Amino acid sequence: MGLFNKLEPIAVARKALEEFGVDPFNVVIEDIISPTEALIMGRRTLLVGTNNYLGLTFDPECIEAAREATLLQGTGTTGSRMANGTFDSHRALEGELADFYNCSNAIVFSTGFVANLGMISTLTGPGDTILLDSDSHASIYDGCRMSGAAMIRFRHNNTGDLDKRLGRLGERAKESLIIVEGIYSMLGDRAPLKEIVEIKNRYGAWLMVDEAHSLGVLGKKGRGLVEEADVEKDVDFIIGTFSKSLGTIGGFCVSNHSELDLVRYASRSYVFTASPSPATIASVRVALKAVAARPELRTKLWENANQLYEGIRKMGFTVGPEPSPVVAVYMPSREETLVCWKALLDQGVYVNLVLPPAAPQGKSLLRCSVSAAHSSTQIEGVLKAFASLPRG
Ligand SMILES: Cc1ncc(COP(=O)(O)O)c(C=O)c1O
Repeated sequence: MGLFNKLEPIAVARKALEEFGVDPFNVVIEDIISPTEALIMGRRTLLVGTNNYLGLTFDPECIEAAREATLLQGTGTTGSRMANGTFDSHRALEGELADFYNCSNAIVFSTGFVANLGMISTLTGPGDTILLDSDSHASIYDGCRMSGAAMIRFRHNNTGDLDKRLGRLGERAKESLIIVEGIYSMLGDRAPLKEIVEIKNRYGAWLMVDEAHSLGVLGKKGRGLVEEADVEKDVDFIIGTFSKSLGTIGGFCVSNHSELDLVRYASRSYVFTASPSPATIASVRVALKAVAARPELRTKLWENANQLYEGIRKMGFTVGPEPSPVVAVYMPSREETLVCWKALLDQGVYVNLVLPPAAPQGKSLLRCSVSAAHSSTQIEGVLKAFASLPRG
């Protein structure tokens, strides 16, 4: 085994899954039918574990824009933003992102993951301090580690803990970066952003908000938690992704700090990776317009979110802390999570299986996520499947 020895625990865990009959982490979408349905193991299956919040993956205007861009500009840029990979359309999208957020500057990265890696590791280094929420996404943790800065985790959504830990830093608090998410990807709860901004301003610290799961989902115009909490002027950096509400792939950072542009020259994950394809950029530009111009998508998304959250909660399951398009259902044990996940799939309902360490606090979850494209009849179908699950 040699180098692979360290993967032995994974081999053991995978074998146990094989004995169980299906590997939840190797599900293959045999055919994708719509934003909400796919063929899985030969069966028509309802998708309730995507991040397709606005259901735009099959939007005719997005598809047409992507098709046209491919015909005109080819399938890929074959280069990094720093070399031959910045087309007019990448720059145009950056302008549109800045306008959308009423910010002066924007940078497009190849994914949300590398946006976090690149931004965090470029802004901070040895000698700096980062305070991050303990439930932060892997890309935030990895960006912090890459930076070499001191990492201080504060308890999830606990502003008292953040305040205390910043207080201990004395003068260094002014040079520290606080990182939180708009909606947390696993439990679906929002950060208490107004209170976090008050703390940030009191200490003179810097604040980054990752709106991966809240862009298009929160705020009248879809600008996320910063818009909903009315703190847009107080946030230094907003990180986002094109891979959820915008239905493609890519990432970005927007900011009112004009120095943001310097990050392009220093961020290895901007300089040393190929830029998003013309089709991706063209599709995102149309989807971004839809976020502001089609608020009815948000209305439908929240109707679905409330229907699913309340329906599952009323059955007696323990769900995440607040209604949200991400509906986390706590399971009593790893085994029961697997059994219930498989029982749902057998009834034609796909949700995400989340086991430790991916789930916070060592918990096991069935993570459901809804889309504006779900009909209320489809949500009723999901509730029926949950109602039939074996219970402890
Ligand atoms: C909070 C958060 N940040 C960043 C990312 C990475 O986004 P991308 O899929 O664009 O790499 C994710 C993806 O799941 C996420 O949940």
